Amino acid sequence: MRIHDVAPGTATAAVRDWVQGGARRRAAATIGRMKTTAELREGFLSFFEERGHLRFPSWSLIPPPEDPSTLFISAGMQPLKPYFSGEKQPPAPRFTTVQKVLRAGGKDTDLDEVGLTARHASMFEMLGNFSFGDYFKDGAIDLAWEFVTEHMGLHPDRIWPTVFAGDPELGLGEDEVAVAGWMRIGVPRERIIPLPRSENFWGPAGETGPCGPCSELNYDRGEEHGCGEPDCAPGCDRCERFLEFWNLVFMEYHLHADGSLTPLPKQNIDTGLGLERGAMLLQEAESIFDTDGFRLIMDWIERESGVGYSTSPVATKAHRVLCDHGRGMTFLAAEGVVPGNEGRGYVLRRLIRRAVVQARRIGLDDVYRLPGVIVEQVGPWYPEVVENAARVEEVVRLEEERFRETLERGSKVFDELDASEAISADDAFTLAATYGFPIELTVELAEERGQAVDVDGYRERMAEHREIS
Ligand code: ALA
Repeated sequence: MRIHDVAPGTATAAVRDWVQGGARRRAAATIGRMKTTAELREGFLSFFEERGHLRFPSWSLIPPPEDPSTLFISAGMQPLKPYFSGEKQPPAPRFTTVQKVLRAGGKDTDLDEVGLTARHASMFEMLGNFSFGDYFKDGAIDLAWEFVTEHMGLHPDRIWPTVFAGDPELGLGEDEVAVAGWMRIGVPRERIIPLPRSENFWGPAGETGPCGPCSELNYDRGEEHGCGEPDCAPGCDRCERFLEFWNLVFMEYHLHADGSLTPLPKQNIDTGLGLERGAMLLQEAESIFDTDGFRLIMDWIERESGVGYSTSPVATKAHRVLCDHGRGMTFLAAEGVVPGNEGRGYVLRRLIRRAVVQARRIGLDDVYRLPGVIVEQVGPWYPEVVENAARVEEVVRLEEERFRETLERGSKVFDELDASEAISADDAFTLAATYGFPIELTVELAEERGQAVDVDGYRERMAEHREIS
């Protein structure tokens, strides 16, 4: 018997009717014919709904007050933590969601990678299927495999699963069950790659909470995307040949403050399929920014700046950052966040300011007009951005005006610094303290000139300065 033939054991009859009715209504439309981002999103949710999962829309980007672990929701499972820990009873044993995620605050940040790779976004949508004590490793593997091969149409020979290699500190060996699971559905052993805790053990690192070994699906995009080195494989950090696109977390432990693990009351499944990366594979696109999910935004940037996306590395980076940060600022401001000097407000401020800097590099003024096209692109799925469009534009416009003066003054000072040696702690400090030029900006502009910055020295100077004042 296959997993999706098993009716959810503990769901109430009402929930089951709701799930199955919804599945009937939606499934036929999209499954098996997906190509666009919208079809992938709907196709995924319908697929899992049809297999007994209760569908939920995205929760807010702001975690609930009882979860202070991150500034923003950083994974699809985060709003579901109480169900994994056993604190609360879920209304059904299987869920499926598409969750807005922002990895741009605190240690959960992908901000610095954005613009430099084909696959990184700080703001993205995560598709997920979740089991609370219902199916476990084999079930999750079966469902994922059926979805990617039969519904996304990905070539089975190009899929490389990674598994947890084990870790003596955690007292765990290699995840042999996961290896056997992938082999059972036909993946040869040599295409199953064991990776260490840093890659394949999921959990809020350094914090307490539900966690577990994970197994990630990587897609081989072909030699032409590779570095050509003999050891190039999933996890290679030299190239983007292998695209990691889906993470299956086998959530069965609780991580304690002393680093020890105890079993959770039940064995659970938490998965995350990056919508943008999935669309990149479906459309055989060069990057997430080349998919239909960014089309309107990319066209707008090109039209308004008059600078093509691929005309130079500077232009490519600027387009990507504007796409990503534009989405981040739009969703955040739509949820009521306002720019400020700390916490969420500081992240929004950074997103807007970084976007303004990048826009300037391709001669694009008035970043506050960008949210308009973002709303057009994402509005069909996220009504909250449509409802708050005017407010978002106003928030961005005010912050942009405020920053423009700072930028003009600071840029002049920066341009006059000696470009042949590293920027000293003193200069970085003066830029920040006197001209309001954020250290991140100094580092970024310096990197583009091939120049280093004494960031440690800068931080010491800043700490001294704070103490004195
Ligand atoms: N929670 C897992 C992740 O974010 C699925 O990768």
